[in-house]
Amino acid sequence: MTESVVELKNVSKRYKDTVVFENLNISVKKGEFVGIMGPSGCGKSTTLHIIGGIDNPTEGEVYIMGVKHTDEKKIAKLRRKYISFIFQFYYLLEDFNVLENVALFGDMKKSLELLKFLRLEHRLHHKPYELSGGEQQRVAIARALVREPQILIADEPTGNLDYKESKKIFSLLKSLNKESNITIIVATHNEELKPFFDRIIYLG
Ligand SMILES: Nc1ncnc2c1ncn2[C@@H]1O[C@H](COP(=O)(O)OP(=O)(O)O)[C@@H](O)[C@H]1O
Ligand SMILES: [Mg+2]
Repeated sequence: MTESVVELKNVSKRYKDTVVFENLNISVKKGEFVGIMGPSGCGKSTTLHIIGGIDNPTEGEVYIMGVKHTDEKKIAKLRRKYISFIFQFYYLLEDFNVLENVALFGDMKKSLELLKFLRLEHRLHHKPYELSGGEQQRVAIARALVREPQILIADEPTGNLDYKESKKIFSLLKSLNKESNITIIVATHNEELKPFFDRIIYLG
């Protein structure tokens, strides 16, 4: 039997007068490459935040690698050790250059390899504000991957990249998924990237 690394059971999320979703059930097995799709505002980011243990459901239960979301200490530890996030808005460290933004989270040699693959070798000593949106996005991708996570969660990771670049990054994710059995969960609204996923979860 393949274990579920992520399990959402009857999860609801509400803000004061907004119901984001109700009774959402999601189960992701180890090594799956899953897409989360749906129109803007349907709750993709919220779902990823709940899956990654950085937001809590209003109702329902969440299990990440078998740990229940209410066990905050254990979830925090899992997050540090095994989970990487690529955020929609990058959140790079503004006072650090490109190489530092990546190497602070992992091995130097691997940082350089990833940055080279992502065509950023000529930007290693630039600060985030000196980069284009697409370049910042690629730094955020390198930072997430250098940690060699077991679970990679990505929120519109190619939202600022053209199709050719997006395809290249998705091919890299796919090879990591196949070679290292990393579980990958990606929110995207890009229909062209659908063929990369093992399975798509539609919201909204
Ligand atoms: N902090 C918040 N307070 C109130 N409403 C929120 C908050 N965060 C998200 N929402 C609402 O939840 C819904 C889902 O948002 P989100 O998960 O960002 O959707 P998506 O990523 O699919 O575009 C939206 O209607 C949004 O306005
Ligand atoms: Mg979103």
